[in-house]
Amino acid sequence: MKAVSDTARLPLDSSARRGVLAYLVATIAIFVLMMIFGLLMRAAQAQAFGLDTGLFYQIMTVHGIGTVGAAGLGGAMICWYFLRHYVVLSTAVLVLNLGLFVTGVVLILGGAFLGEFAGGWNFLYPLPAMSQGAWSNGAAAAFLLGLLLIGSGFLVFYLDMARAILGKYGSFSRALGWPQLFGTSDAPPPPAAVVAATVIFTMNIPGILVGATILVLNLVSLYAPEYRIDALMAKNMTYFFGHVFMNGTIYQCLIAVFEIMPRHTGRPWKINKWFLGGWTASGLMVILVYPQHLLMDFVMPEWMLIVGQVVSWVHGLPVLLISVFGTLANVHRSGIRWNMTSGLLFFAMLGWAAGVFPGVADATIIVNQVMHNTQWVPGHFHTYFLLSLVSMLFGFGYHLMMDMHGDKASLIDRVGFWLFTLGGFGFILAFLAGGAAGVPRRYAVHLAEWLVYDRAGTIFAAMSVTAALVFMVRFLRNLNKGVSS
Ligand code: HEM
Repeated sequence: MKAVSDTARLPLDSSARRGVLAYLVATIAIFVLMMIFGLLMRAAQAQAFGLDTGLFYQIMTVHGIGTVGAAGLGGAMICWYFLRHYVVLSTAVLVLNLGLFVTGVVLILGGAFLGEFAGGWNFLYPLPAMSQGAWSNGAAAAFLLGLLLIGSGFLVFYLDMARAILGKYGSFSRALGWPQLFGTSDAPPPPAAVVAATVIFTMNIPGILVGATILVLNLVSLYAPEYRIDALMAKNMTYFFGHVFMNGTIYQCLIAVFEIMPRHTGRPWKINKWFLGGWTASGLMVILVYPQHLLMDFVMPEWMLIVGQVVSWVHGLPVLLISVFGTLANVHRSGIRWNMTSGLLFFAMLGWAAGVFPGVADATIIVNQVMHNTQWVPGHFHTYFLLSLVSMLFGFGYHLMMDMHGDKASLIDRVGFWLFTLGGFGFILAFLAGGAAGVPRRYAVHLAEWLVYDRAGTIFAAMSVTAALVFMVRFLRNLNKGVSS
C-alpha cells in the first residue's frame, strides 16, 4: 500500500467558505457563552455570590446541552470543511443544518430561561414530565422540540455526507480503506478525512435516529401521561445517542489534526494499516460501549454491563493511539513551525491523552460505584472536551485566520494560549481533586469543606474563559474578510 493518499483536492467556492465562517462564529460564540455559564455555576458553588438554586439547574441544563450542541456544530464544521476538498457536499444542506440549529437553540433557551425547564441536558425520562411544578409541560416541550429540530438538521447533514462519500467511493468498505487493510490492494487509500467521516456518519445516523425516537416518546408522554415508556429502555436509548454523538464530535475535530499538522511539520500524515484498522475498530467499539454509562443500573442485563466494562477499557485506544502517536511521530525532529494553530492542536492531543486516565478509572465498576456521582466525572469529561475538543476548535479558527493574515502570533494570542492551557488544567484538576475527596456532582449548594476545590476551580475557570474571550475577539476582528481554503 502507498503510505499516503494522493487524492486530488477540490477547491472551496465562496458560499462554502461563508458557510464555514458562519459555523465558526456560531460555534465559538455558543462556547464562550456556555463557558461563562460554567464559570457562574462554579463561582456559585464556591459561594462567591448567591445564585437561586432553580436558576442554577436551568443554567446547568443549558450549559450541558449548549456545549454538547456547539461541540456537534464545531465537529461538523471541521469535518465538512476538510471533506469538501475530496467529495462534493451540498452547501444548501450545510446552511439548512445551521438554520435548524439556531431555531432549536432559540426554543431551548426559551424553554429553560422563560419556561424554567431544568431537567438536565440528557432529559432523562420521566423527569421532563415530572417537574413537581418547577416547570410546565410547554417548557419541557420547547426544550425537547428544540433538540428534535437540531437532531433533524444533523441527520440531513450526515445523510448528505454518506451520499457524497458512497457516491464517490462506491462502497462503504472502500471508503473505510478495507481493500488496503484486509486485502492486497496497492491502490492509494482514501484520505484521512474520508475514512474518519465514514466512521462518523455510520455512528451518527443510527445514534441520531435513536435520539430522535426517544425525544418523540418523551414529547408524547408530556401530553398523554397514561402512555408509559419502559424507563430502562428510555435510559439506554438516551445514553446510546448521547455517547455516540459526543464521541463523534471529538473524532470529527481530529480531522483538523490530520490535515493541518502536516502543513506545519512538512511531513504528510501516514495513512497505513494501523490508521485504517484503528478507525474501523474504534467506530465499532463506540457503538458497543455505551452501557459504560449505566454501570450503576443493577437492573441492566449483566452481559451488557460486562460488554460496557470490558470495551470501555479499549474503545478509544485505537484512534487515540493513532492520533497521539501519529502527532508525536509527525512532529518529532520535523523542525515544526510552532504557532497558535500547531500549539493548540498539539496541546489538544496532550489533553486527550490525559483524559484517558480518569475516564478509564471511572469506567471500572468498582471505582464507578464510588466515583460516578462525584465531581470526578465532570473532571474526566471536561478534560476531553475543554482541553482537547475546544483546543482543536480554537486551533482550527487560528488556522483559518493565519491562512489569511500570516502566522505571526501577537502578544495577546500568546497570553491567551497560556491562560487557556494553564487555566484549563487547573480547572479540571480542581474537579478531579474534589471528586477524589467525595464532593458530589450536580449540587448547587456546597458544604464549607468543599469550598477549597470550588474556589481553586473558579479561579482557573476564569483564566480559561478570559482566554476564550480573547480568541473570540481575535477571530471576529480578523475573519470577516472571508475564509481561505
Ligand atoms: C471554562 C469552561 C467551563 C466551565 C467553567 C464549566 C463548568 C461546569 C460546571 C460547574 C458544571 C457542573 C458540575 C457539577 O456537576 O457540579 C459543568 C457541567 C457540565 N459541563 Fe462544563 N464547564 C466548562 C466547559 C465545558 C465544555 C467545553 C463542555 C463540553 C464541550 C462542558 C460540558 C459540560 C457538561 C455536559 C456538563 C454536565 C451537566 C450535567 O451534569 O447535566 N463544559 N460544567
